[in-house]
Amino acid sequence: MSEAESGTIYDRLGGAAFTRALADRFYDIMESDPAYAGLRAMHEPDLGPVRDSFAGFLATWLGGPRDWLAARGGGFCVMSRHAGMGITAETAGQWVAAMRAAMAELVTDARLRAKIDEAFTRLAAAMARGGGENA
Ligand code: HEM
Repeated sequence: MSEAESGTIYDRLGGAAFTRALADRFYDIMESDPAYAGLRAMHEPDLGPVRDSFAGFLATWLGGPRDWLAARGGGFCVMSRHAGMGITAETAGQWVAAMRAAMAELVTDARLRAKIDEAFTRLAAAMARGGGENA
């Protein structure tokens, strides 16, 4: 394994600077491209809090520091958080497409990008089904 392939995915991608940049780019794209208007409308008018929260979630999810999780009392289920939002196949597809666009700009390792994309796609599809058993 080369040096670039050791460590957590979080470290390999650039740590806190990366998770912050990905969260910001994702919401920038969601906000600025009318293709994501349906998804944008589901969010609060002020995207500031969710930008911060999503960046913290990403750090934990990618194997980095768990402070974000600890600050929430150590328990967070991303599926339960999205239950009852009325996520459809269409809004889930918008989420995945906006995230794919952000990752295309920020994740140069194509294999790693495909792996993360697959995990996001699976989660988003489960949210659209309203399921939670595979989350
Ligand atoms: C499937 C389509 C999705 C939709 C429509 C959606 C929508 C939302 C909405 C409306 C919020 C509340 C924030 C606000 O109102 O401004 C939210 C929060 C959040 N979402 Fe999603 N989301 C989706 C997928 C995902 C996925 C796949 C993940 C993780 C990989 C994720 C992670 C989060 C996190 C971490 C928060 C912040 C929760 C908190 O601070 O309590 N979302 N999402």
